[in-house]
Parts: sequence; structure tokens; C-alpha cells
Amino acid sequence: MCGIMGYVGARDITKVILDGLAKHEYRGYDSAGIAVVKDREIHELRTTGRVSQLAKKVAEEHFTGEFGIGHTRWATHGGVSEMNAHPHVSSDNRVVLVHNGIIENAREIRADLEAHGIKFHSETDTESAVQYLGYVYEGDPKAAIVKLTKRVRGAFALVIMFYDRPNEIWVARKGSPLVVGRADGEGFCASDPTALLEYTRDVWFMDDDEMAKITKEGCIFYDFHGDAHEKKSMHLDWDAAMATRGSYPHFMLKEIHEQPDVVAHTLLGRVADGAVDLSKELDWSEAKIKGWKKIHFVACGTSHYATVTAARIMETLGDFEIRTEVASEYRYRNIPIDKDTLAIFVSQSGETADTLHAARLAKSRGAECLVITNVRGSTIHREVGNAIITPAGPEVGVAATKTFTAQITALVLLGLYLAKMRGELDKDTEHRLVTALMDIPGKLASVLDKEKDIEMLARDFADARGFFFIGRGLAYPPALEGALKLKEISYLHAEAYPAGEMKHGPIALLDKELPVVALVPKNGLWEKTVSNIEESMARKSPIIAVATEGDDEIANYTDHIIFTPETEPELFPFIGVVPLQLFAYYIARQRGCDIDMPRNLAKSVTVE
Ligand code: AGP
Repeated sequence: MCGIMGYVGARDITKVILDGLAKHEYRGYDSAGIAVVKDREIHELRTTGRVSQLAKKVAEEHFTGEFGIGHTRWATHGGVSEMNAHPHVSSDNRVVLVHNGIIENAREIRADLEAHGIKFHSETDTESAVQYLGYVYEGDPKAAIVKLTKRVRGAFALVIMFYDRPNEIWVARKGSPLVVGRADGEGFCASDPTALLEYTRDVWFMDDDEMAKITKEGCIFYDFHGDAHEKKSMHLDWDAAMATRGSYPHFMLKEIHEQPDVVAHTLLGRVADGAVDLSKELDWSEAKIKGWKKIHFVACGTSHYATVTAARIMETLGDFEIRTEVASEYRYRNIPIDKDTLAIFVSQSGETADTLHAARLAKSRGAECLVITNVRGSTIHREVGNAIITPAGPEVGVAATKTFTAQITALVLLGLYLAKMRGELDKDTEHRLVTALMDIPGKLASVLDKEKDIEMLARDFADARGFFFIGRGLAYPPALEGALKLKEISYLHAEAYPAGEMKHGPIALLDKELPVVALVPKNGLWEKTVSNIEESMARKSPIIAVATEGDDEIANYTDHIIFTPETEPELFPFIGVVPLQLFAYYIARQRGCDIDMPRNLAKSVTVE
């Protein structure tokens, strides 16, 4: 969480940093700040609130300098205040830095330094790092940073400037993402590579235990002992336009609308003639695939729900022993993980700390690991190696939408491929599902055509006290994701339950102010779900049904119906989730919520 930007070069310093921070705002948006060095003096400006407020202050004060760094904050240690906003400057005004992560032994360092008479000015853990650097700095930045890396514990991406080192920005990374970029005569660093796309697509993703010096002439990389090493750059295949909102009022709405294309791109090159082939990406022999006895899916949030979806689809394809685990739990339970395990990690950002740590654990236990991520070169991708990259393009809205559909597309392909390689998938099923997958983009486009109706529905229900989402079988995972979307962006309480489970407790909550969104596709579980709808109606809950086109009977139960196109039963989650994304979006809009940057959330959760 938190977004960092640094720039050295001939462009307008504050503009590059403020534009870069605006692109990082999804990572944290409670306060922001900028620091520059000018004539061997450090100047900083901070404010609570958004980057736009910082930009206003910068303009009012004609704030500028020779090179600089900036930060947008998601508070961890210390409340939201100007005093706690970054950048932080050492008491002797010789060092300034911004930080993403948590310094775990900050209290101890602070106590030591205070005993040496150093005065602290904030409640943050970060300040311990800058005060320590000020304390040990004797004109050699590398030596000071090496000492700092030995003194601090925890996670950090640090971007540092020293008052007497003109046009030099230093960075260090352990556990929090950081990318360095270079163009002719200029150098950059950022938490998120999309902030650099306007200037360069040639970047270096920093590794853990790595530091670098960024100057106009180039970048030099060092380990935490201070020894230099060569590092290969990576060319990003995203372009700057992909990270703009276009004519949409919110990134989330744009990203919802991108889903037909995203599914089509995810299928591209992976299916042909009704068959799936992932052999170009996955260098696994049949014997190896047959050798795995267990499949563990590990992820967080929406990515976790993508794995819950995948597990239910895969159960129908082959004889898999599957677990789906939330990453923050996986690490701390006594789950048998060994060389017979295929552990699949799913992460849009590829930077989620919980998922990353879970992957490290599985690797250390000898499991074969695979990551499905939207960010090529992200930390999880680099560490795990085996990867399926989802080509969804940058997702900016904090609420994940298009990456969910990209993930489930990749996961269905993976399930089909594994089942096929194990000799468990018959040709007809493969053909039927691959053909149906190829029809999904068109079907999603027709769901998106219902946008106006869904908006009207959302208007009718925007004042509800909360919502239940129910579904059975393959209608349950999209219910989970629909409830999460609503919680995240409208701040309404929403819960998803397997429809048949409601009567075992949650039904006690139902009344006329608590609507039930029922996912009721026309399949073998239709009648059972309708019985659960009736149970809810008997408690006076208004019903919103997501039903299959041509299902005339559903009108006997409710007037609030979103009709969706028919698809193969296994693929209903694709069709079921999109109306729920739109429903959450319009409810939040109706309630005047900050849709792309919901309170308390950050897009990429890099702390445990
Ligand atoms: C989704 O809308 C959320 N923003 C959140 O649950 C997210 O899916 C989760 O933090 C995992 O992120 P990742 O996919 O980048 O690992």
C-alpha cells in the first residue's frame, strides 16, 4: 500500500511526480507529499487528502526543485495527519525519504536515537529509517543505506535523497514493490510500472535485498552489502492509454466494459479447433502432471473467489483433490504441502504480501508452484517462475472486475489442460467447453447491454439496509464476488451464502428491508434455488433474480429480474458476475461513494 514516485531529469519535476502520484492513488489516498532538493537544500510539502490537494499547494507555493520524490499514503502506523504524511526528513535536514511497507522494529530504533538526542516529528514507523540514515550518513549514501538495511526489520520500498548528492536518487527494496525506469537523460522510480508508461517502457523490477542509484546517466544496482551487479531490464507490453479512463466516469465502469475483450485476449493463442493447449507456457510433461496428488489454490479477495470458481468447475472435469485457501490462513495452518502438491497462486497485482509469503512457503516445502497474475515481472511472477499471465491490461479501479474474468478464463483453461494431460477429459467435453468459452465475449457484451436496466434496479434498492446474495453450485462463487463488490464500493453490508444454507441461520436476518439477490440460472438446481427464494419471500425480503433468458417462470416470484444469456452450466460464473458488478457500481454511484478509491482500501495489499 502507499504509492511512491521519484524523478531525476530535465522535465518539470513536480509535474512528473504529481502525475505519477495520481496514478498511484489507488494504492493509498489519505495524505500525500513531495520533496525536492534545490541548491543543496531539502524542501518538502505535505497535505492530508488527495494528490489534487497536494497539486494545489504545489501551485500556490510555486514549489519546485532540481530532482524529487513523492508519496501517497495509506496509513498504517500513525493517524492520518500532515505530520505523518511522507516524505520524512531527518532532524539535521540532510536526508529525506518516502516509504512503502512497515518497519517492525521502529520503536526500538526510535528509542535508541532519542537517547542520542535526535528529535522525532511524527508517529510513523518510517521516521525511524530517515532519522537513522541522518545519524549514520557521512557523505557516502551507499554505505549509509547498507547500515540501514542491517538495522531495520520489516518490509520496505524506500526512495531516498541526500542534500549533497545532486541529481541522485537512491532506492532500496525488501518486501514492497518498486520499479525503476530509464529514458534518455532521465531516471524514474515508482511503486507501479503504469506510472512510468508515459515516459518509458524499459524498466527494472527491483528484487528483495537490492538497492540502486538512479541518475540522469543511468542506474547502478547493488546488493545489501553494497556490491554492484548487472541487472536485465524488461520491456513492458502495456501502453499509456490503457491506464486512462477514456470517456468513462470511473475506471471501474471502463474495466467492466473491457471484459468481453479481456476474455477474448485471454483465450488467444491458448485454444484452437475446440482444444486447449498451454504447453507453450507450462513446461510440464504428462508424467509430471499425473504425479501431483493435490492441487492447492491460494489467493486473497477477488482472486480467491476466482479460485473458488475454478475449483467448482474443475471438479466437473476430472478427478482432482482440490483445496482453495485464503493466503493469509494458508501459511499459519498445518496444511500438508509437499512434492505431490501443485500449488497455484492467483494475484492480479502479483505483489500481495499474503499470497507472496504463501508461495514462498509452498516452494520451500517442495510443491510445484504456478502463478496466475496480471503483472508480468511482478514479485510473485519472478519468484514462482511458472506463470500464466492474464492480458487484462492495467486495472486501476480498486474493486477488481476485469481481472476476475481474466483469471477465471485462465483457470478454466488450466483445469481443462490438466484434466486432458491426466487423461481424464473426454474430447466432447473439451470441445463443448472450449467452444462455449469462445462465445463468452459475445454473451458478456449482451449482458453489458442490460446496463440501463441494472442502473434502474440499483436506484430502487440503493437505500436498502444490506443485501444477501444466494446461489447454488456454480452460482455460488459469483454470489461471493457480487457481495464483495457491493461491500467494497457502496459500504453496505452484503453477504453471500449457498442458497440452501440460509435456513441454517442467516434467514433470521431477513425482513422487508433486506433484499436477496438470487442467482438462479436455468439448470438442474433451479427448483431448489427457487425454493430458497420462496423461503426468503415468506420473510418479506424483496428478491432480485439473475435468471436465464427465456425463463418465464421466474416472473412468478419477482418483478426484479436481470436476464442473462444461456451458456454451458459450468461457465455460468462468467455470465452471472457481470450484472452484479454493474449492480454494485450503480448502487455505489447512487449513494455518492468514491467508486475508484473506496475508503480504507488499497488496490495492492503489500502488508500482511
Ligand atoms: C478486489 O476487489 C479487492 N480489491 C481485493 O480483494 C483483491 O482482490 C485482493 O487484495 C487480492 O489482490 P491481488 O489479486 O492483487 O493479489
